[in-house]
Amino acid sequence: MITPIYDCLINKKTEKTPIWFMRQAGRYLPEFREIRKLNTNFIKLCLNSKLSTEITIQPLKRFELDAAIIFSDILMIPYGLSQKVEFKKNFGPELGNIDLEEILKVNETKFIEKLKPIYNSIKQVSENKIIERKDLIGFVGAPWTLLVYMINKNSPKKNLIKDFFKNEELINKMLNVLEKFIKLHIKKQIDSGATIIQIFDSWAGLVEEKNLQKYIYKPTLNLVNYVKSLNIPVVCFPREIKNYKFFCNIVKPDAISIDYNVDPKLIIKEIDIPVQGGLNPKVLLSDKENLKKESLKYLNIFKNHPYIFNLGHGVLPETNPEMVDYLVKFVKDY
Ligand code: CP3
Repeated sequence: MITPIYDCLINKKTEKTPIWFMRQAGRYLPEFREIRKLNTNFIKLCLNSKLSTEITIQPLKRFELDAAIIFSDILMIPYGLSQKVEFKKNFGPELGNIDLEEILKVNETKFIEKLKPIYNSIKQVSENKIIERKDLIGFVGAPWTLLVYMINKNSPKKNLIKDFFKNEELINKMLNVLEKFIKLHIKKQIDSGATIIQIFDSWAGLVEEKNLQKYIYKPTLNLVNYVKSLNIPVVCFPREIKNYKFFCNIVKPDAISIDYNVDPKLIIKEIDIPVQGGLNPKVLLSDKENLKKESLKYLNIFKNHPYIFNLGHGVLPETNPEMVDYLVKFVKDY
């Protein structure tokens, strides 16, 4: 079945602009907050198939989106690898110490057993009528970004911990382990019904140029080739990478998701593959006139280029759902 996003990604159609949002299922929705209030353990919530299925389809009940993205988190992989992962209110994720010995003890069966509820949710969403003629996006964190959380133990904001690179042997071993289990997580999501895979490399911008090959290009290319070998389109989001053109030339994803700091006019000049996203999520906190003006900028620039409308990062918790509704309708009517 050809979906609007496949038409864009695979057939390179430009007549209609498909739309979905990173973090479309989340705290800006009162119906999510209601569930969240009663489920204070975020990991447990991600592993509650019934609730994560419901949360995944919440935004589709409200808005005319072209995809659902499974309600889960990139940090479910460190969790599956036996590292302690917690989400603290108003602080974000907090991970336990990295214990390579414990991690190396985790085999595929054990990993799948721990993350099974996620695959069950994907299956349930894929069987729901609401997803007919739409895509179901599965996702993973890129090896670099997962490594950052696993070693740094919380969001790095602007900087990595001082001695991040001190133990190179640990880093190399971890990159290998991560590649193996990220591939497994991708495969299980696809087998359960995910029709697209997005690779989030939220901290790609922290890597110095001389290290890009080792930490970004090579590990991501391996994953991209793996997803392609399974005949599923793959979208990359190497947030704040300095040179999107280099990234695309080397990694060759089916589409590139751009952050809001990058100039879309430069992207359209330099990049041939389909593009996704870009709009600053803060624009949704302003007024409708400004939202119209800013989104029109992206729509006009990518008018004759395969383009999936999305944001340059996730929907912010302060967002009024009415603004999201307005934006979806505006893009659909364009
Ligand atoms: O996009 C979606 O709607 C699907 C679900 C999804 C979540 N996290 C749910 C979530 C996806 C795709 C992610 C990816 C993710 N998780 C990334 C990559 C994208 C990005 O934002 O850069 C990263 C870096 C994480 C790690 C993570 N999870 C952080 C840093 C945080 C805390 C910061 C924050 O935004 O709250 C989370 C928590 C998280 N993941 C929430 C949700 C809905 C909020 C949890 C809550 O209710 O407190």
